[in-house]
Amino acid sequence: MIRLLQFTDTHLMADPAASLRGVRTQASLEACLAHARRRHLPADVVAVTGDLVQDDPEGYGSLELLFDDLGAPVLLIPGNHDIPAELERRLSHAPFQVGGTRVVGRWAIVMLATWFAGSEDGEGRLGPDELQRLEAALAAHRNRHVLVCLHHQPIPMEAAGLDALGLQDADPFLAVIDRHPQVRAVAWGHAHQALDVLRGAVRFMCTPSTCMQFKPRDPGFVIDDRPPGYRVLDLHDDGGIATEVAWLEGYRQ
Ligand SMILES: [Fe+2]
Repeated sequence: MIRLLQFTDTHLMADPAASLRGVRTQASLEACLAHARRRHLPADVVAVTGDLVQDDPEGYGSLELLFDDLGAPVLLIPGNHDIPAELERRLSHAPFQVGGTRVVGRWAIVMLATWFAGSEDGEGRLGPDELQRLEAALAAHRNRHVLVCLHHQPIPMEAAGLDALGLQDADPFLAVIDRHPQVRAVAWGHAHQALDVLRGAVRFMCTPSTCMQFKPRDPGFVIDDRPPGYRVLDLHDDGGIATEVAWLEGYRQ
């Protein structure tokens, strides 16, 4: 078995006291990491699935300091609020890895970038190159179980506002997933809420943000009263998955 911790939508900024919709993002991330140290570490691998910073490259410095000493490789992908060139320039050294595929035990973790230059409102797109990279990774890892991570939701979340800002090329993405039965799960962030559903035999999971959450199944962008959170995934050698969202119940700033 391997253990993967997923953190997402950390929205860090240069000013450690800066807040997003009323939540100081660095403080809430620090609380999530402290919670993880007490309850869920050590882990074999950590994934941080986009919106690492809030349009501010200085936030990558804070991310580096906070994730540097978890004792596990830290896989990163950009979200719509990231600056991919800055992300790669600042965090392409161990224990960090931007994008790509990471083999851990019987599993391959495929990290996909959905950031694209023309996004106006925060929607995402894989594009032909990233879809091809997914195909190639799945062809190369036929005999492993696969977890695919991306920032944008590839399935509707029954929330009109958010769904308009999902993955624009979800259909070809899902077609690739459907052709490769070794894909066990798909995990994302972006929607700042928890979801865990089966699509066929594949587990599809949204993980809440380490800062503020949106109310599930609301057509607008209503702030939920749920606390910061992250996801624990125990990925078993037979392809089975045990997962839970770790919510920081009672967290206040
Ligand atoms: Fe996002």
